[in-house]
Amino acid sequence: MNDHTYSVSTDILHGVHIKNPAGALSTPIFQTSTFVFDSAEQGGRRFSGQEDGFIYSRLGNPTTDQLEKKIAHLEGGEDCAAFSSGMGAISGTLLSLLRCGDHLVADRTLYGCTFALINETLPKFGIQVDSIDMSDMELFKSTLRPDTKMVYFETIANPSMKVIDIEAVAAYVHQVAPECLVVVDNTFATPLLVKPLSLGADIVVHSATKYLNGHGDVVAGFSVSRKELMDTIRLVGLKDVTGAVLGPQEAYLILRGLKTLKIRMDAVCANTLKVVDFLTKSPYVKKVFFPGLESNADYTVARKELKQFGGMVSFEMGSFEEAKKVLNCVKLCTLAVSLGDCETLIQHPASMTHSMCTKEEIEAAGFSDRLIRLSVGLEAPEDIITDLQQAFEAAD
Ligand SMILES: Cc1ncc(COP(=O)(O)O)c(C=O)c1O
Repeated sequence: MNDHTYSVSTDILHGVHIKNPAGALSTPIFQTSTFVFDSAEQGGRRFSGQEDGFIYSRLGNPTTDQLEKKIAHLEGGEDCAAFSSGMGAISGTLLSLLRCGDHLVADRTLYGCTFALINETLPKFGIQVDSIDMSDMELFKSTLRPDTKMVYFETIANPSMKVIDIEAVAAYVHQVAPECLVVVDNTFATPLLVKPLSLGADIVVHSATKYLNGHGDVVAGFSVSRKELMDTIRLVGLKDVTGAVLGPQEAYLILRGLKTLKIRMDAVCANTLKVVDFLTKSPYVKKVFFPGLESNADYTVARKELKQFGGMVSFEMGSFEEAKKVLNCVKLCTLAVSLGDCETLIQHPASMTHSMCTKEEIEAAGFSDRLIRLSVGLEAPEDIITDLQQAFEAAD
């Protein structure tokens, strides 16, 4: 690390000082599964932890190692483990820290696969789950138990854009349930909008498939925390339980994508404000879900917690049929799941990313089959708006 305190744009590029072989500016791709030992004794020392050094790429790789250091630095954590997907990071983190009989409190608005992992898979392993609306602090307080082991939520929830008060939740948890870990999925916000660890969260997880990589060509995830927790997540969750290790090619692409994270996020956030302004004024749109709207129930929390309001917006049409028609009528917005790419992506959560949730679970999560989710990209905002307008007219 450097001694200077840099502004974010500089910090992303120079905050972690790395010296590459042969003076290479960009990180070399160490495309190797294993690493050669000088002697049997050295191999033994590396396995026993007496000597630092690479052993085998499931346990660490120099390209991935650089990326992990950069992400740990950006999130303000001591250590980071890279996984081959966001779900790898989430399942690896949860399965290495929870055991049969433990109690977990989770917000009920989560990315569909995380929702399924927490509400269907974890109970099969004997973990007790309470899935609640965590923005209701009174409900949260009455659900948390002194022996609760984990609390889980998303900084900006997928797809309702709900924002939970990380600071208030973490302070209460650490006072009432000393062994409980607060785990936050920071995918939608990125560390540029909020650093949950600095607000008291214990662990941050990411789908790096989204903004951190930013170019729609990699599936990846991260878990970031203090050293002692990361040792468990890395040695149990990554190495043994999931084995979901990130390949060096993908690590290289994310390192490259990260270089422009700040300018991408700034541009996307600015574009999104314009798109949201259009959506809120459109007679075709019944409701807009965006953390930066004063009419939004979580606006005060969002203003306090987020540096900017992000690039994700959801909106409700008059009916399911109308929502489907809009998706079939867009010409510029790209009909695809995922988010955080350069291109604007549009999708229908109820039948796509959240199709594993029942109608009741979708309603409890605060949305409906009339909802469309937009990941605003880097196109000129007026072109995105023109495309949405023509799709609304065509679908009418
Ligand atoms: C908020 C959030 N977390 C986690 C994931 C899972 O990430 P991945 O697809 O990289 O496994 C997603 C995927 O869309 C997501 O939206």
